[in-house]
Amino acid sequence: MATKVTQPGTAGIAEAEAAFLAANPSFRETAVLDELRATEYGRLDARGDVYLDYTGGSLYAESQLEEHLRLLRETVYGNPHSVNPTSSAATVLVERARAAVLRHFNADEDEYACIFTPNATGALRLVGEAYPFGPRDRFLATFDNHNSVNGIREFARAKGAGTAYVPLEAPDLRVADGLLERYLDEAAADGHRLFAFPAQSNFSGVKHPLEWIALARDKGWDVIVDSAAFVPTSRLDLSVWKPDFVPISFYKMFGYPTGIGALIARRPALARLQRPWFSGGTVVAANIQGELVVPLSGHALFEDGTVNYLGIPAIEIGLRHIERIGIETISKRTEALGTWLLEQLQRLRHSDGAAATRVYGPTTWDRRGATIAFNFLHPDGRMVDERFVDVVAAAHGISVRTGCFCNSGAGETAFSLSKDTLIGAEFDDGMILDDYIKLIGMPTGGAVRVSLGLATNFADVYRFMRFATEFRDVTEVPADLPPRIAC
Ligand SMILES: Cc1ncc(COP(=O)(O)O)c(C=O)c1O
Repeated sequence: MATKVTQPGTAGIAEAEAAFLAANPSFRETAVLDELRATEYGRLDARGDVYLDYTGGSLYAESQLEEHLRLLRETVYGNPHSVNPTSSAATVLVERARAAVLRHFNADEDEYACIFTPNATGALRLVGEAYPFGPRDRFLATFDNHNSVNGIREFARAKGAGTAYVPLEAPDLRVADGLLERYLDEAAADGHRLFAFPAQSNFSGVKHPLEWIALARDKGWDVIVDSAAFVPTSRLDLSVWKPDFVPISFYKMFGYPTGIGALIARRPALARLQRPWFSGGTVVAANIQGELVVPLSGHALFEDGTVNYLGIPAIEIGLRHIERIGIETISKRTEALGTWLLEQLQRLRHSDGAAATRVYGPTTWDRRGATIAFNFLHPDGRMVDERFVDVVAAAHGISVRTGCFCNSGAGETAFSLSKDTLIGAEFDDGMILDDYIKLIGMPTGGAVRVSLGLATNFADVYRFMRFATEFRDVTEVPADLPPRIAC
């Protein structure tokens, strides 16, 4: 008897969800998130939105807004750079939020400082511009890094330091065993050395080993663990792991407010940084005629001007919200839904049996988070232009990200771009991104990224797979797709 093969996304939702629950009995332990989906994130279903860009930014609960607004309505807050009553009221809330951040990451206040920044990028810039690079020094980064980490190489080079990148291996987009150690051992033992890697890739979802922190620190490196894509769904315990610098963006954790991030820094490493300037808020005293500058210390030295004192209290509210849910509950849920989605995507086939997708990074749920990068394929194996995916996704009310996600190195590895190709290819005056993509021989402008978060439910991933089936047997895309603006 012929076996009936059900294409992913074509079973009815009730049938598909029943099968999913039968295969994942512990998913029911995350039921609190189904309740919150209805009460706190109800706007998603009211509008019919399928939001799957949590690595871009998480979503806020309605109660976060209400609590923040209540706080602002009930009290008068002034600029914290004074001692007057309204200023003191703001200072109390800013310092409470700072303590709450350290508590959330289980960081000892004597060991770690929390510096508020505009975002993770702002945190990385603080480190890059103040790191005491010199000609004998080195900046080392994995290929897998956000461009906000890659940009640190410009500070290093400007001060004569060497830079190096640890490559990734395709198809998993991880660093080969033992390779990092070789790169760590290459630098001069007496120079300043700064190593940066992401705890979780914003491209492939790979979780790189946190064991690298001790390995590098033991060899005398200062370590940045970019945790922007990791902490929204995973626990970072700074009583266990001891990185020197941890950049994060709070909107990626709980959606609101935007415009606030933090640099969580080990105090001894912070003390080694040399700020390139001073500003309001960072000095005990400064004068003009004597050219005196007496810097403040700790977090205060790094918070330029007036902090976002009306927004920062919302950080404590947001942290409380995710702590009530429990980060392990969020992890468990995104893992179960992510595993289902990863499998379904790879099972998608054209009528002739040819694969309809190509996934970048780990193809099973092994040391990874719920960020999945892939391309749809035409039946002849060519990649479907990611701009067409955007068009079809919009028609389905689906929000995903397409492109290279500001992670050039993971993209170069995923698309097999060699050093020789890239060195020979100049981005000439008058070129647009589309010309450059053709010049370097990329099959299309980038990948499609689906990322899951605390409000994702089964219906979201199911609707995504329904949308994905539209790419079965698609042989051509329209010729009039809009030009690409940035990667
Ligand atoms: C791993 C990682 N690092 C850094 C950033 C930069 O974050 P932001 O744009 O909030 O500064 C991002 C943003 O997506 C990210 O995913």
